[in-house]
Amino acid sequence: MLNVGVLVSGGGTNLQAIIDSIESGRLLSAKIAVVVSSNEKAYALERAKNHGIPALSVSKAKLNLSQSDYDEALIKIMSSYSVDLIVLAGFMSMLGEGFIKKYENRIINIHPSLIPSFCGKGCYGKEPHRRAIERGVKLTGATVHFVNNEYDAGPIIIQKAVDVLDDDTPESLQARVMKEAEWIVLPEAIRLISEGKVKVENGRAKIYE
Ligand code: GRF
Repeated sequence: MLNVGVLVSGGGTNLQAIIDSIESGRLLSAKIAVVVSSNEKAYALERAKNHGIPALSVSKAKLNLSQSDYDEALIKIMSSYSVDLIVLAGFMSMLGEGFIKKYENRIINIHPSLIPSFCGKGCYGKEPHRRAIERGVKLTGATVHFVNNEYDAGPIIIQKAVDVLDDDTPESLQARVMKEAEWIVLPEAIRLISEGKVKVENGRAKIYE
């Protein structure tokens, strides 16, 4: 059984997708051991509590923590719940080198575009969708990738494409990418990892399904 620690900051719809995939029996070999939010007001915490999942918030700003102290606090929590895989599901805080080194190739993130398009520092939330509309691309989507020390640059595990419609707004596109891509690929990536079917070779993630 793969113990998953989910890091959140906001509404938690991706967390909900993981919860639903576990409860529906689609994701059999993973369990959410703990949810940690960078924002104490995140609705994601409510979602965790509604499903009996331990839910904590650790705000770097509120606790006035340095990056290394914040990393250490998160590592302590993850270790106490014997977490094997860290999932960033709308997590908006920085992870330092200490944390990333500790969980090398065991941290995954969901990004709302087809990386390497529309990603990188400052490109999150509605921004990837605004840029996709502005560029006039006909396809965008979502990417699950391993996290390393650069923004959105780790090995890509899964991607799923979504049509961009002529009358799309950043809001309508964000909603469709979440529903038709994010909430599908994130649980699927966790399933593949939990079944030992993802290997990183020469900086690329390979799926052995
Ligand atoms: C999602 O769009 C995700 O791609 C991005 O942040 C948003 C989080 O949404 N990383 P939620 O908190 O999972 O609803």
